[in-house]
Amino acid sequence: MSKIIVLMGAPGAGKGTQARLLQERLGLPHISTGDILRALATEQTPLAREVKAVQSAGGLISDDLVIRIVSERTRRPDCLGGYVLDGFPRTTVQAAMLETLGREQGHTIQAVVIDVPAEVLQRRTAGRRSCPVCGEIYNIYFKPPKVDELCDLHPDVALVRRTDDQADKVLVRLATYERETRPLLDYYEASHRLARVDGLADTEEIYNKLRSIITGEI
Ligand code: AP5
Ligand code: MG
Repeated sequence: MSKIIVLMGAPGAGKGTQARLLQERLGLPHISTGDILRALATEQTPLAREVKAVQSAGGLISDDLVIRIVSERTRRPDCLGGYVLDGFPRTTVQAAMLETLGREQGHTIQAVVIDVPAEVLQRRTAGRRSCPVCGEIYNIYFKPPKVDELCDLHPDVALVRRTDDQADKVLVRLATYERETRPLLDYYEASHRLARVDGLADTEEIYNKLRSIITGEI
């Protein structure tokens, strides 16, 4: 049976980095609600302005909107064989919706949390840069680009920093995660659908562990 992989973890844990590898190497669609909302926020509409304000402040977008985005995106044919959710669900309402969606689509749910201590998350988010063209994720401390502030794949493109990666916003996002999202770990654990990976390991080691979990080798 095909799977929905729910990648969980605090801001900066490495969800996006791993989901991009899973997409590239296993062909599993990577669905990041954060990325979809950031793209939406660039439009010139009242909704876009609202999304931008909430996202930049480190709060959560309404369940209604996020649920609509996920159900529309996962209805596309590329998701028939399963997919990776990065940053969804984040609330108990979203988790309940995902149960229904999984049943309707005929997928089982496997959650995986990437564990990283809070003090490391601050440095990961402070050092993160990404390419506005391809979305490649870098880090000035842990994964620097070949040339400072330029994308390796698009050398004429300057890397950008997310507005919610300022230290004060990261504190808000961490608090939001603890309050709204961490309880979902117990929820998946109680139904034996939670695996844990050590997020301090290097990227390849984490990827290998995730791949084994997804393919059912462990
Ligand atoms: P979102 O974009 O999902 O942000 P997040 O959950 O805070 O997570 P991040 O993207 O910051 O971190 P990541 O785990 O992807 O880490 P990354 O791989 O980049 O959400 C943003 C906002 O959108 C939310 O605050 C909210 O407003 C809204 N939103 C999104 N989903 C929502 C929902 N479902 N409901 C309501 N609102 C929602 O890695 C971080 C850095 O570390 C990088 O620089 C990377 O190079 C580096 N790194 C990664 N792995 C390693 C490693 N193993 N060793 C060393 N460095 C590493
Ligand atoms: Mg991310």
